[in-house]
Formats: sequence, C-alpha cells, structure tokens
Amino acid sequence: MSETLLSVQGLTKRFRLRRSLGEFVTRRPGDSALAVDHVSFDLAKGEILGLAGGSGSGKTTLARMLIRLVEPDEGVITVDGRSVRDARGHELREIRRRMQMVFQDPYSSLNPRMTVGTAILEAGRVHHQPGSDDGDAFVSKFLDLVRLPASMAVRHPSELSGGQRQRVAVARALAIGPEVLIADEAVSALDVSIQTQLLNLFLDLRDELGLAILFVAHQLSVIAEVADRVAIMHLGVIVEIGATAEVFHHPQDEYTKSLLASHPQPVPLDASREIRICE
Ligand SMILES: Nc1ncnc2c1ncn2[C@@H]1O[C@H](COP(=O)(O)OP(=O)(O)O)[C@@H](O)[C@H]1O
Ligand SMILES: [Mg+2]
Repeated sequence: MSETLLSVQGLTKRFRLRRSLGEFVTRRPGDSALAVDHVSFDLAKGEILGLAGGSGSGKTTLARMLIRLVEPDEGVITVDGRSVRDARGHELREIRRRMQMVFQDPYSSLNPRMTVGTAILEAGRVHHQPGSDDGDAFVSKFLDLVRLPASMAVRHPSELSGGQRQRVAVARALAIGPEVLIADEAVSALDVSIQTQLLNLFLDLRDELGLAILFVAHQLSVIAEVADRVAIMHLGVIVEIGATAEVFHHPQDEYTKSLLASHPQPVPLDASREIRICE
C-alpha cells in the first residue's frame, strides 16, 4: 500500500472582492468569490499528482494554501498526520521545510545578488541541514542532483539560461530537505525542449529521493509527461481525479472533455506509464 504523506480535506478559500463605492458608503460587506471550494485529495510518498485546469481555476491558491502562503478559510491539511493549519512557530517552520515550492519565475526564490552556491548553502544552513557546514561539498551535491556542474556555484542567476535558473531554484528547494515539492507552473515559461529536460529531472528526483510532487500546470501535455494521477480543477473545484492515462483517455467530466478537446495537439500519452509509487 502507498503511504499518504499529504492529505487535504475540504480546503476552501474565499477572496473578498473590492467593495464598490456604494457598498463602501453604506458599509455593506463587499461580495466575495470562492477561489477554492472544498477541495480534497491525498498525495503519497513518491507520487506525482498533476493539477491541471484553466487560468483562474484556483490552482495557485490551492498550492499556496498548502504551505500557508495563503491562509485557508476552511478545511484540513495534514502532513504525516500532523495538522498544517494548527502549526505555530517551530512546528510551522518544520512543516515549511518538509514542503517546498518551486514557482514559474525562479527569481521569486532566488536573490539576484547572491551566487548560486551561496543561495544553496544559505537555504541548507537556515534549516540546519546535515552537511551544510561543509560549504563546497554541500553545494556540489545539490548542483549534481539537478545535473548542473559544480562550476555553476560562482555564477549569479542573471548569468544563467532559463532552464539552468529553474534547476538552481529546484536545487535550492532540495537543499532545505523537503519530502513534498510543490511545482507551480515550474516549466510553463520554458521552451518545449527545455521543458522536457526539466520534466525528466522531476521524474528522476522522485525516483532518487522518493519525493512526492504536486505538479501544477495549465498545459495538459506537461501533466501527461510526469503525473501518475491528475486532478482537473474548474472554478475552484476538483471536477475529476484519477490515473493520468485513465482521465485523459476516458474523461468522465464535461469540463475535462472540453479541456482535452481544446488542447492544441492530442495529449501525448505513454501507454506504458503506470503508477509508480515508492513503497
Ligand atoms: N490575492 C487575491 N485576491 C483576490 N482574488 C484572488 C487573489 N488571488 C487569486 N484570486 C482569484 O482567485 C481565483 C483563482 O486564482 P488562481 O489561484 O491564481 O488560479 P490559477 O492558478 O488556476 O490561474 C481567480 O479568480 C483569481 O482572480
Ligand atoms: Mg496559477
């Protein structure tokens, strides 16, 4: 049996919309919009769960709630059975160590003035990661994990290509020692050939480290390449969730069907892909 690492039940986020002048004057509360509406799913150790859906469907809000960059209004999130929403202080820091996020724009996690090596080392040291007192070896280990040469350590983010920069963002996240990686459109801005290389990296990291990955992407082709299971989101709701090949070949939900139909190319699927979950 696979081991559930992250569990989400009934997760909900309502954003208050800006009040109109009339509402402001009369002190009526403004309207609010449900960005994420009672979403539930589990993520197992070593599993890659894709989260797909159109723009504005609530993917980023959901991803950010998991590490409390956005505070949920309702719902339960647990990591290894421990409540993320109840965590404070040291416990919240520990949960944030266990779940790291990689964003579409690597500059949101990389300081442009810091060299690659310093960024990786600082990340490890702040979280007291083993080996982080031995600077060069620690940095090389994580550069090697993302298939970059040790010589990259002295470079600044601006001196790297988009793909290299995203690899560094992944290395920095790994240096913190996560068990869950949340990738929010992490390859969406890259060229297709670079995208494929990064997707292979995520697959390797899952295999080598037993990482669980929530892989958020609006491109179905990207999800098809990496995800064991896929959840389709529409208007804040997960309308369908299941094994990737099953959902893409036999969609049950009308929205999933329209999403697949509107995709520019047929979604390439590796028929031999099976759910590979580390025991
Ligand atoms: N900070 C915010 N304040 C108000 N509304 C927001 C905020 N963040 C997101 N939203 C709204 O929540 C909905 C979901 O957005 P988002 O989670 O970014 O979707 P996705 O990542 O799927 O494109 C959208 O309607 C968006 O406008
Ligand atoms: Mg988004």
